[in-house]
Amino acid sequence: MKPRITRRRALIAFFGIVALYFAFREFKGDVIDWYAHSHFVRTAAYVASDSPDQICLTWSDDPRTTQTIQWRTATSVMEGSVEYREGGPGEDNLLKAKADRKVVEDVLLQNDPLNHRFTAVLRDLKPDTTYAYRVGNAAQNTWSEWAEFKTAPEAPRPFSFTYLGDPQKGLDSWGRLMQAAQEQYSSTAFYLIAGDLINDGGWRNEWDHFFRVSRGIFDRRPLVPVLGNHDYSYDEVPQLYLDLFSLPLNGPADFPPERAYSFTYSNALFVVLDSNLPVEDQAPWLEEQLSESTATWKFAAYHHPAFPSAPHRRNVDVRDIWGAIFDKYHVDMALQGHDHAYLRTYPMRGGERAASAKEGTYYVVSVSGTKFYDQEPHDYAEVAFPDVMTYQTIDIGMNPDTLTYRAYDMEGKLRDEVVITK
Ligand SMILES: [Fe+2]
Repeated sequence: MKPRITRRRALIAFFGIVALYFAFREFKGDVIDWYAHSHFVRTAAYVASDSPDQICLTWSDDPRTTQTIQWRTATSVMEGSVEYREGGPGEDNLLKAKADRKVVEDVLLQNDPLNHRFTAVLRDLKPDTTYAYRVGNAAQNTWSEWAEFKTAPEAPRPFSFTYLGDPQKGLDSWGRLMQAAQEQYSSTAFYLIAGDLINDGGWRNEWDHFFRVSRGIFDRRPLVPVLGNHDYSYDEVPQLYLDLFSLPLNGPADFPPERAYSFTYSNALFVVLDSNLPVEDQAPWLEEQLSESTATWKFAAYHHPAFPSAPHRRNVDVRDIWGAIFDKYHVDMALQGHDHAYLRTYPMRGGERAASAKEGTYYVVSVSGTKFYDQEPHDYAEVAFPDVMTYQTIDIGMNPDTLTYRAYDMEGKLRDEVVITK
């Protein structure tokens, strides 16, 4: 018997189709992301070889006496080590450190699914000292070029660092911005990137691209990364990010390691937080870091901004919970990303504009890639503009204690500047 098409059934079918249409419209981005992430077979443009590449400095311990170095090779290379010495390249007084090896996997990369990633931690280094180093395999005689790094000073002294917002998209342009930043600001001690280093953190070919366009930079100055929402696939572990970067293990107890951490450089404390995970879970640890530090300057870095730059992107917990702790212990600057339009607030305290930087915190959002969002006027914005890739330099001076913050565009034009004096 043929089913009867009644008016009721026709209406149910009609509303069902309408509901499915709106559900798809609402979740289209997530559906496409999920499908792309789990189904796309890809080809690596920059295939690993026997020669080390993607050489990257990070800190996983004290910047005064340790230096962590990581690099990749093809899986044919089973061992790796670092040769290093004080001063420039040479054979005398050569020190050696053996690296740990890890297999880095992206099974959908059809021409290069497995790499080896080597990580070595150099210890017992002298503070404020330049070392030359090279990485590779002694038996195969495959060594990198010599490069240099410098350890952090023992006692406080003036220094500079660079902060960048999301690279994420347009990595070739981002690479040119990085080269410009390096040329114009070679004195930087390290580069802090406030999350979304690439667009899809589960795709190793994007990480390969990130390292390709920044070669010659992170092998000389450490990268201090912050975990953004694009650096991994939502509810998964950020496996590639954790494989690629060895970071301090001093985050909150019972919290996934290396996703929140802190370190001190000269007279400045840096607290890196993970705004992808519950804000309140990190609050007691954040308070501990700030209350126990005697540093003159205090910086917080995380991905989702407390004061939005783009429309419809409020992160109330970040502003209310972490913001209250920043107020209590006087964080000087909060370095953020995610909103893809430049914003520097007035000094803020309790969600309101403070009288001066002595009472409040500057919150900054910037973008270093080519993905841009619209911007609305905000009463908390002192300087705001959309559609510009920038890098920011922060110079810490002493006697008197001053902080000079500047934002530059690709052409080296100054876009924002503020000075704080203690
Ligand atoms: Fe983001």
